[in-house]
Amino acid sequence: MMKSDINPLSVDLSTPKISPDYIHLYKFAAHDLSSLTLTQRQLCDLELILNGGFAPLHGFMNKLDYENVLDHMRLHDGRFWPMPITLDVNQQFAEQIKSGQELALRDAEGLLLAILQVGDIWEVDKIREAEAVYGTKDDAHPGVAYLYQQVKKVYIGGHLLSVSLPHHYDFNHLRYTPVETQKLFQQRGWDKIVAFQTRNPMHRAHQELTLRAMEQTGARLLLHPVVGMTKPGDIEYYLRVRCYEHIMKTYAPHSACLSLLPLAMRMAGPREALWHALIRRNYGCTHFIVGRDHAGPGKDRAAKDFYSPYAAQELSLKHQAEMGIQIIPFQEMGYSLRQARYLPVNEFPQDEIPATISGTELRERIRKNADIPEWFSYPGVIEELRKAHPPKYQQGFTVFLTGLPSSGKSTLANALSLKLREMTNRHVTLLDGDVIRTHLSQGLGFSQEDREINITRVGFVAKEVTRHGGIAICALVSPFANARHKVRQMISEVGGFIEVYVSTPLSICEARDRKGLYKKAREGVVKQFTGISDPYEIPDSPEIKIDTASVGPEEVIESLIKQIKLLGYIQ
Ligand code: ADX
Ligand code: MG
Repeated sequence: MMKSDINPLSVDLSTPKISPDYIHLYKFAAHDLSSLTLTQRQLCDLELILNGGFAPLHGFMNKLDYENVLDHMRLHDGRFWPMPITLDVNQQFAEQIKSGQELALRDAEGLLLAILQVGDIWEVDKIREAEAVYGTKDDAHPGVAYLYQQVKKVYIGGHLLSVSLPHHYDFNHLRYTPVETQKLFQQRGWDKIVAFQTRNPMHRAHQELTLRAMEQTGARLLLHPVVGMTKPGDIEYYLRVRCYEHIMKTYAPHSACLSLLPLAMRMAGPREALWHALIRRNYGCTHFIVGRDHAGPGKDRAAKDFYSPYAAQELSLKHQAEMGIQIIPFQEMGYSLRQARYLPVNEFPQDEIPATISGTELRERIRKNADIPEWFSYPGVIEELRKAHPPKYQQGFTVFLTGLPSSGKSTLANALSLKLREMTNRHVTLLDGDVIRTHLSQGLGFSQEDREINITRVGFVAKEVTRHGGIAICALVSPFANARHKVRQMISEVGGFIEVYVSTPLSICEARDRKGLYKKAREGVVKQFTGISDPYEIPDSPEIKIDTASVGPEEVIESLIKQIKLLGYIQ
């Protein structure tokens, strides 16, 4: 394939800018404009419109462009563009906006970023968009899920006047704009540059793609990882950037540079690969690597791949000429233990199975502190991953005790916190329902709604404690399975969650009741009392179940500690 005759540097990157002399006037006048606070996705899109990364777009799409992009991957005027870039708002907001007016676009802190000259306003057909862009209506696809659940009902199109790029405070020395990368390449005299897209930590297999691409084409490398939004559940970019910095040291001097891309990915596979390639052309690259399952969203509800692993390659090769960037396709890479080098899997002799370590396997080895072979990754990269994913006994965790009033939760929670302090060198925070209701949740009652707010507040605090590596012990009646599930999800994202069902039977709780609340509940003086006039939904699958009916607190604590040890959170 010949290199395309489109010179990437001829692409117009400029979004109309307000002259610096007038910016203060605009900022002043913007006080009178309606304002829209942008979501994270919208901020990412705006940044790439304003900095030229999305050239030839100069704004959010109007209806004709949008529909043409859905149906034909082209703007209305015929120029190639595969991804709808739209500004979504809710109906109530849309009703106050008219075509022709100006709208101030702001970040969460209220900083004015751009003025939108409102064009079309129309209601989104989400099913149509899902099928056109993602080729599926299945919301197991993360892009479709985002569209259904997060995208609001109405789109507003229009040109943008740029006031300021979104502000960043982290890794600013690595955030090059398209103008800056182009200038950098020119200064260094690089005329061929191959870009590598990634949303994962890089290991040797990925690096092999870049080294082969550089060798095949004689190009230098732009390592261009996404730090905007990636697939939910991906490794956060702070950690990834540290890994990339290790990898950067392993390239020949002056052969590679690292820049972070503030893109909000859609995980749209083939269409997304085209979009990625166009963006890299705008950053001044001449070549773009598309490997196996590029921007793949995983599997659908029937456990089938949404896209075939090489569909992204085929589609982007087909459009490379008009995109003005050459696609470098790669087969899946595997390691040959016999030849001690990486090879595309289709080049392996029939009797040798390529060595690989899957993402799941890698996480498992990191979790268990197990060995990871040298051929798989660099020690510096592995060390970063191990630091970020310490073994269970070094992670924060929450012990969440639930059960009827007077079932013994508070006594156990208190005893457990003292015992854990004796045994470990960890920080322990006790969050007891009765105490919480005197400050954090003061004023809340016992309706289902208030109970849920109470639990979510406690869950929030426990999550922070857990995230910082501490131990949170919560003792709450927490009668509703739904609320408990929500807290479990929140906390599991950042550390361990141990649900302890204190299963003391009602009759014993009632007999033990120190405050006489059961009696008052039976008389109807105390209302909405769990176990008497309000339901308690028994946990289906708590990590630990404790019955305090026949054993004393010391024994119960001993068994609780034993079970927490078995779960691996303490040694
Ligand atoms: S993503 O954008 O495709 O989601 P990811 O980090 O997973 O990011 O992959 C980056 C690039 O490497 C993509 O072009 C992908 O196709 C390619 N790739 C990843 N793993 C392999 C592999 N084992 N063999 C070949 N290509 C790969
Ligand atoms: Mg991938």
